[in-house]
Amino acid sequence: MSETDAQTGAGRVLRVLVLNGPNLDLLGTREPAIYGHETLDEINAGIAARAGELDVAVAFFQSNHEGALIDRLHVRDFDAAIVNAAGLTHTSVSLRDALLAVERPFVEVHLSDPATREPFRRVNFLEDVAVTRFVGLHARGYTLALEELARRWAAGLIPARARDAEAPDG
Ligand code: DQA
Repeated sequence: MSETDAQTGAGRVLRVLVLNGPNLDLLGTREPAIYGHETLDEINAGIAARAGELDVAVAFFQSNHEGALIDRLHVRDFDAAIVNAAGLTHTSVSLRDALLAVERPFVEVHLSDPATREPFRRVNFLEDVAVTRFVGLHARGYTLALEELARRWAAGLIPARARDAEAPDG
């Protein structure tokens, strides 16, 4: 069976995976002057509320482990993703490879603007393969990413994908 449904976006809602990388579980207390005071649960609640308004199905996954993030992508039970790979943005060829391998469009998000920080954060393995990016906008970046994906879905720019496997716990 083809992995792509016959009609783009037809007959069901867009499914978005929100993937967050290492140390983002500590948001709220982690360097609040840089990342803000909102916890990841609070950010996710805001995304879920906006997703409800947009009629988008969202799933959330955070891990401090590169392989766990890659395994979650391999499940391929989503049409598009919002990715804050955190420090792995600047180091991980493997995460980039996984994002390309699963053939789902993704929006890159960062709470801060890495390009205005230490020079090593200017190395970015994801930006040239992301459909677009929102940086330095704190939690607002995630909802802007969701709105962008919903807009692209409505315009038929994102293929509707068949469900490939069940998601692991996490
Ligand atoms: C971050 C920026 C990265 O450089 C950093 O390693 C993070 C968070 C952000 O959201 O601003 O962990 O992705």
